[in-house]
Amino acid sequence: MPTAVEIPTSIYSDQKPGTSGLRKKVAVFQQTHYLENFVQATFNVLGGIQGKTLTLGGDGRFYNLEAAQTIIAMAVANGAKRLVVGRDAILSTPAASALIRKIGADGGLILSASHNPGGEDGDFGIKFNGANGGPASEQVTNAIYEETKRLESYKTLSDFAGIDLSEIGLTGVLGTEVEVTDPVAVYADLMESLFDFKAIRELISNPRFQMRFDAMHAVTGPYAREILVNRLGAAEATLLHCEPLPDFGGEHPDPNLVHAKDLVDLLNGDQMIAFGAASDGDGDRNMVLGTGFYINPCDSLAVLCANAHLIPAYSTGLAGVARSMPTSRAVDRVAEQLGVDCWETPTGWKFFGNLMDSGRITLCGEESFGTGSSHIREKDGLWAVLFWLNLIAARAQPARSILRDHWERFGRDFFSRHDYEGIDSDQANALMQALQDRLEQLPGQEFEELRVERADNFSYQDPVDGSVSNNQGVRIFFENGARIVVRLSGTGTSGATLRIYFDQHERDPAYFSVYAQRFLAPLFAAGEAIMQIRHFTGRDAPDVIT
Ligand code: G1P
Ligand code: ZN
Repeated sequence: MPTAVEIPTSIYSDQKPGTSGLRKKVAVFQQTHYLENFVQATFNVLGGIQGKTLTLGGDGRFYNLEAAQTIIAMAVANGAKRLVVGRDAILSTPAASALIRKIGADGGLILSASHNPGGEDGDFGIKFNGANGGPASEQVTNAIYEETKRLESYKTLSDFAGIDLSEIGLTGVLGTEVEVTDPVAVYADLMESLFDFKAIRELISNPRFQMRFDAMHAVTGPYAREILVNRLGAAEATLLHCEPLPDFGGEHPDPNLVHAKDLVDLLNGDQMIAFGAASDGDGDRNMVLGTGFYINPCDSLAVLCANAHLIPAYSTGLAGVARSMPTSRAVDRVAEQLGVDCWETPTGWKFFGNLMDSGRITLCGEESFGTGSSHIREKDGLWAVLFWLNLIAARAQPARSILRDHWERFGRDFFSRHDYEGIDSDQANALMQALQDRLEQLPGQEFEELRVERADNFSYQDPVDGSVSNNQGVRIFFENGARIVVRLSGTGTSGATLRIYFDQHERDPAYFSVYAQRFLAPLFAAGEAIMQIRHFTGRDAPDVIT
C-alpha cells in the first residue's frame, strides 16, 4: 500500500530553465533528488497541486519512463486530483498542449529535450506548460528557479511499484485518479478539425504526387502513421524513420539541412518525390522540402500566412501574426498587405502565448523550424506539414511554384543562420561583451562596403502583462535593409552556442534563384568584420548552416 512521505533534500544550484525548460545531460538528471527537486519546486510555485488536474508525457527519449514514474508518485503525494498520462509516458509536445486544452487541465509536465540528442549519454529535459497549453512564462520559470534554491524537502510515495503505463485505463492511487490515455487520438482529431482532409486525401492518392515524412526515429512516428497513413491513405513507404527509439538511432533528431540529410538527399536526388517533411525529437519542429529545394522556415511562415484563407480553420482571416525577432521579416510584408499586426517577440515559444490568449494573433513562427497557430500553444510540426499539403491541394500547385509565386509578390527575404556550437562560454561571453561595448559606435561605420544604420540590444515588453524581457539579442541594421542578429543559445547543455542570423530582402526576380549562402556572402563578411568571430572563438567556419 503506497503512503505519502516527505523526503528531506539538498539543493542544486543549476536548475535555471532556459529557452524551453530545464535541459541537462541524462546523468545530471539521474543524480539523487535532482528531478524530484525541480518537480517539487514547480508544484510549489503553482501554489501546490492539491485538487488539480495535470497531464504528463514526453518524447520517449532515454529516462522518459523512469522520470514519468517518479513524477506520478510525486503528483499523487502532492494531492493531485487527476493525472492524465500518455500511454508509455509518450506525448509529443504539440499533443501535450492539445491534451491540456481539450481536458481543461491546470497544466502539464512535458519530458523532452526537443531536438537535442538522446540516449544514456544524451540530453534530457522537463518543462511545465500552463492551463492554456503553453510553456510557462519567464516569471514562472524564474520563480521555479528561485524555489529550487531554497527547497528543503519533496513529497513522494513509499511502497509504490509504479503504474502500468502500457495499457490505456484508469487507476486510483490514494486520492488521485491516474488515467493512461491514447497519446495520438486527441491530436489527430484536432488536425482533422482544422484541415480539409478530403482534399489532402485526394492529393495523396494521386500517383503523380509522391511524398516522404521523416520522423527521425523520434516521437512523431506514431502520429504520422495515424494521420498520414490511416486517416489520409498515404502508402507506408511515405514514412521514414518512424519507429521511435530512446536514442533516436544515435542521431540528432533535428530537422534541418545537416541532420535530416537522408531526406534532403532523397528530395535532391529523386525527381519523382514532390514533397518531403521532417519533424524533431518532440514533434514541434518541421522542415518542409520540395523537389530539389528546401523552404526556409521564415518563408514557410510567410507563405502560410499569405494563404491561410484557403484552409478551413483560417478561412475567416487572421487576427494578427507574430515572429521571433531573429526570424526574417518576410511575414511582416504579408501582414502589412493583409492589414493585420505583426508582433516581434524574443526567441522562444513562450512569448506567443499571451498574444494568442488575448486574441492578438492566429499564426506565428520562428526561423528555427517552428511554425504554429492558436489551435494550441506550442509550435507544431505535423500541423505545418498538413498545412502545406492542404495548400498544395487547394492551389493545385507544387510547393516550389507556391514559393516562387510568393517571392514574385513580396520579394525574397534571403535568410541564413550560422551556428558555432560547443564554444568556450568565456570566449562566447567575451565576444558578446565586446559587441555590446561597441554598439553605440556602429551606426555610420562601414564594414565590407555595408554601412550600419542602427544597432541595439533587443528588449520586449509583453502587451498583455507588461513584463519586460531585456538582452534578447543584438540587432545590427544596415542602410541597404540587411540585418544581422547575434545571440547565445539558451537550450544547450554544454559550452555555448553562438547563433548569428543574417537576412536581406530582394525585389528583383533575377536574383531569386541565387543560393542564399552566395547572396548573403557580403553580409557574412561584414559580420566577421564587426564581430571578429575568428579572433574570439578560434573558429573558421560555423558548425551548422541553415
Ligand atoms: C532554440 C531556437 C528557438 C526555439 C528553442 C526551442 O533556442 O533558437 O527558436 O524556440 O530552441 O525549440 P536557442 O537554443 O536558440 O535558445
Ligand atoms: Zn522540439
